[in-house]
Amino acid sequence: MVKRMTLLFPLHPNFTGYNAPMRTDSEILDLEVIGELPAELEGTWYRCGPDPRFPPRLGNDIYVNGDGVVSMFRFHQGRVDFRMRHVRTERYLAERYAGRSLFGAYRNPFTDDPSVANVSGNTANTTAFFHAGHLFALKEDGLPYELDPNTLETRGLWDFRGKLKSKTVTAHPKIDPATGEWLLFGYEANGLGSRDMVFGVVDKHGDLVREEWFEAPYTAMQHDFAVTRDYVIFMVFPTTADVERMRQGGDHWVWERDKDSWIGILPRQGSAANLRWFKRPAGYSFHVGNAYNEGSLIHIDLCLSQRNAFPGIPDADGRPYNPEEAAPFLTRWSFDAQDPEATFTSRQLSPIPGELPRVDGRVVASKHRVIYYGGINPELPLNTSGPIGPGSNLLVRVDVDTGAVSALHLRDADSFQEPQLVPAVGHEGYLLVVVDHHDTTLASVAVLEAAHPEKGPIATIKLPIRLRDAFHGCWVAAGAANGA
Ligand SMILES: [Fe+2]
Repeated sequence: MVKRMTLLFPLHPNFTGYNAPMRTDSEILDLEVIGELPAELEGTWYRCGPDPRFPPRLGNDIYVNGDGVVSMFRFHQGRVDFRMRHVRTERYLAERYAGRSLFGAYRNPFTDDPSVANVSGNTANTTAFFHAGHLFALKEDGLPYELDPNTLETRGLWDFRGKLKSKTVTAHPKIDPATGEWLLFGYEANGLGSRDMVFGVVDKHGDLVREEWFEAPYTAMQHDFAVTRDYVIFMVFPTTADVERMRQGGDHWVWERDKDSWIGILPRQGSAANLRWFKRPAGYSFHVGNAYNEGSLIHIDLCLSQRNAFPGIPDADGRPYNPEEAAPFLTRWSFDAQDPEATFTSRQLSPIPGELPRVDGRVVASKHRVIYYGGINPELPLNTSGPIGPGSNLLVRVDVDTGAVSALHLRDADSFQEPQLVPAVGHEGYLLVVVDHHDTTLASVAVLEAAHPEKGPIATIKLPIRLRDAFHGCWVAAGAANGA
């Protein structure tokens, strides 16, 4: 009889406690609800995040390298049903067949098992996204995976009916509510480490109608971008990639504080020939809350830090990670697209550090008033949840017009995942947010008045399980998704 040693997940904060992998698909019908759900909550909340099926091939790994899992809460007549299912990516299927991890370090194919040399490492683990009747799981180093919006079964890779040439599509797509267009970009668009970028437009029917190719100043992690009615803004911050470094077994991403950042401004109706790049001092932003323009004056509200916020991304000069440098603050950048230097002003919008900014989807690319995000008060207890370390211990609402900031802290043993606004007619709508309960290792969904999150939940949806932290999601009103 052959004895087989079971591989173990490492005893590391990325894989223990609330971050322990769940490794399961599940369905829970008719969740318990405390309080009364608003009648307007009719639809489905989709979320996507990482959850590794197998222990890491190299013994340890970063949080963001887990297999994509999509979950859904379907709200119908006061009842809530829950489903969660791994995306059957090429990577997932290859590893399932082998019964172990075959992919090594994050986005470094030189550390993979030779058997997957021709298999995509795309985990589809970042964003659940819905457009023109189709549900997708997105990851920025590959193409979207299409999922069944009712069962979450994987339908397969989506290349826009063979039209898209880019090998990558951002996990931060924008839907322009004025046109119904899906605006996307790709970086490393022509393969590992390439400087090639793409800007793409998908019309309201789901057809790719534009694909503009151009080059970035250097190859960098471009996690998000900004879109206004008249402009598209790309942001190159010095988290850099180098294929030779990867070949030597090094990280895909390294933080190079001495490099400039670059801002690329593209008129929406222009071509790549109209794209102009402007230098900025080094800094980093993972997420844009929203952007808009008044004539040629562009405003971008983004979570901005002095360095990349991920502790797993090393400094090129070996300097130790400094959480104060990495702390992001919601900031407004304003600059004139007609100014030959695009001279910009920078204004902090909230004193509370935090991330995962969200706005009402109806104001994307136009003037917004309110941003919601997960905040951190370092003087309150912090619990380990998600990719950075501490999970958000505040849920924050900022009125960017008045400067008013309000915040909700629940119990010291709780942390928040990304908030989701559900729009309503005649008022600001509702916020949905998964709350991690670190004492019971269970989760719940808090339903809040969006105008007053500080008042606490008007209803709480209980789960009999933990929900490992997801990244990003979307709300799809009933009727938009087939069967919703
Ligand atoms: Fe993101």
